[in-house]
Amino acid sequence: EQIKKGSYDHFMQKEIHEQPHSLTTTMRGRLKNSGVILGGLKEHLKTIRRSRRVIFIGCGTSYNAALAARPLVEELTGIPVTMEVASDLLDRQGPIYREDTAVFVSQSGETADTLVALEYAVANGALCVGVTNTVGSTLSRRTHCGIHINAGCEIGVASTKAYTSQIVVMAMMALAIGSDQLSTQARRESIITGLSSLPSHASEVLKLDSEMKELASSLVDSESLLVFGRGFNYATALEGALKVKEVALMHSEGMLAGEMKHGPLALVDENLPIIVIATRDACFSKQKSVIQQLLSRKGRLIVMCSEGDISAVGPSGSCRTIQVPEVADCLQPVINIIPLQLLAYDLTVLRGFDVDQPRNLAKSVTTQ
Ligand code: G6P
Repeated sequence: EQIKKGSYDHFMQKEIHEQPHSLTTTMRGRLKNSGVILGGLKEHLKTIRRSRRVIFIGCGTSYNAALAARPLVEELTGIPVTMEVASDLLDRQGPIYREDTAVFVSQSGETADTLVALEYAVANGALCVGVTNTVGSTLSRRTHCGIHINAGCEIGVASTKAYTSQIVVMAMMALAIGSDQLSTQARRESIITGLSSLPSHASEVLKLDSEMKELASSLVDSESLLVFGRGFNYATALEGALKVKEVALMHSEGMLAGEMKHGPLALVDENLPIIVIATRDACFSKQKSVIQQLLSRKGRLIVMCSEGDISAVGPSGSCRTIQVPEVADCLQPVINIIPLQLLAYDLTVLRGFDVDQPRNLAKSVTTQ
C-alpha cells in the first residue's frame, strides 16, 4: 500500500501529506504521561547520561534533523552536543573517545559516509546509537543500540516524512536521557503534551497547500532563495533550502540569522526573495530586529510567523507571511518545515522538473 501513489501525483507529495500519520506511528506506544519509553535505549541510558559529549553524525536531511534536535538534547541532558557531517568527520579524523555517545542518523541506514563514520566511532570505543527508518539496515545492525523512527517506507529521493519523524525521535531521546532530572520535569511534561498534539497540528499546517502553490508561482522565476533561521529553527532554514535546491533545482541557501550582518546582508535587494523564520520562541525579538534590518534595505521578505502574529513581524503589508500553528518551541521545527516542503514541491512542478528522481541524486548514496 505504501509504495503506491494513490490519489497523489508524486511520492514526495504523498509523503508530505502523510506526515500526520507518520508522526503518529513514530510515537505509537512510546509516550506515557510522565515520560517516554524507548525500548532500544533502555539498557544504555545510564551510560549515555555519564557520557562527556553526544556527537550527532549524519548526511543531508538526516544531519539537519539532528541539528533541529540538538538544542533540546543540550537543554534536557546538560551534555554538550557536537554536530558532525559524516564525511567531514572522516576527512579530519576528528577525535572520538570512549566517553562519547555517537548518535548516527540515517533514513536508509545504508549511507556509505555514515557507515564508515560508524566503523570509525566503534573502533574508537564510543557508545554508538542508531536512529534509522530501516529495520535490518546495516546501521541498525552495527550500532550498539538505537531507535527506529517507524515513519513507513519513503520513496521520494527528497526526504520529507523521515525528517519530521527523526526530529520527534531525537526529542523523545532527549526526554528519556533527561528523565532523571527533577528540575526539568514540568518542561518535559509540557513537551510530551506537545508531542501528542503534533499530528493534528501537522494536519492543520498542511492546509497551507494552496497558499504555498501561490507563493511558488510568485517565486518560480527567481534565481535564488535565502532562508534565515536561528535557535530551534536554524535547521529549518538549512532543510528548507536543501529541499528547494535538490528538487526544484533552484539555488537556495539556509543561513543562521545571527550571521546575517557578517556577510549575507550584502546580497539583499528588492529582487532576492528571503524567507525569515520568526515563529514564537526565545529568539523572537532578535528575529524581529533581523526583519526590520532587511526591510530597511528593501529586502523582498516572506516571513514565517505564528498564527495571528502578523502585526508583530513588521508594519502591516510590508511583507508576505506564512502563518503556522504555534507548538512547543522545541517541536516548532516539525511544523515549520512542512510549508517549505510544499513550497519546494510546488516550485519543482511549476519548473517542470522530476520531483521523485531529481537530476544527479540518489535516495541512498552507498559509495563514498
Ligand atoms: C542522499 C539523499 C538525501 C538524504 C541523504 C542521507 O543524499 O538524497 O535525501 O538526506 O542521502 O541519507 P540517509 O539515508 O543516510 O538519511
